[in-house]
Amino acid sequence: MESPVNPAEKRQTYQQTRRNIQALIAGERDEIAVMATVAAELYHAFAHFHWVGFYRVVRPGLLKVGPYQGSHGCLTIPFEHGVCGRCARDKTSQVVADVTLLPYHIACSGTTRSEIVVPLLDARGELRAVLDIDSDLPGIFDAVDQEALEALADEVREVYG
Ligand code: SME
Repeated sequence: MESPVNPAEKRQTYQQTRRNIQALIAGERDEIAVMATVAAELYHAFAHFHWVGFYRVVRPGLLKVGPYQGSHGCLTIPFEHGVCGRCARDKTSQVVADVTLLPYHIACSGTTRSEIVVPLLDARGELRAVLDIDSDLPGIFDAVDQEALEALADEVREVYG
């Protein structure tokens, strides 16, 4: 699937979105306020994003949904399940070109085809949350998305000190 935005445009949009987010969250230390702002800005940055949000580690091995934009996301994800769980366990970004080919994917929306999930670690390297983005288009996420979203995750990590 050819991306609806070319790599140069995509980089530019991410750069602008990151600048907007930096300005909006400057000095903010509340995790939910920051996540809500990031979700809103990212969701509106690209027309092909249909779900953008966070899952937070609420106790060892368990994620709960945090601020998001899009239709409802499942509320609870144990680390053993889903692309989010894999990201949480491995503490590495997951880029999935076709979720229908992935037996452990959790389908919150039947229309999702591709997904990217990025971990948020605190200064001690502990996982605190993951950032999850879904699209109805297959194969839509690439290294440009991964790099930009990992950089954005760094902005959110600031709240963990
Ligand atoms: N697809 C995710 C679950 C979260 S929703 O997509 C919002 C997963 O497999 O972990």
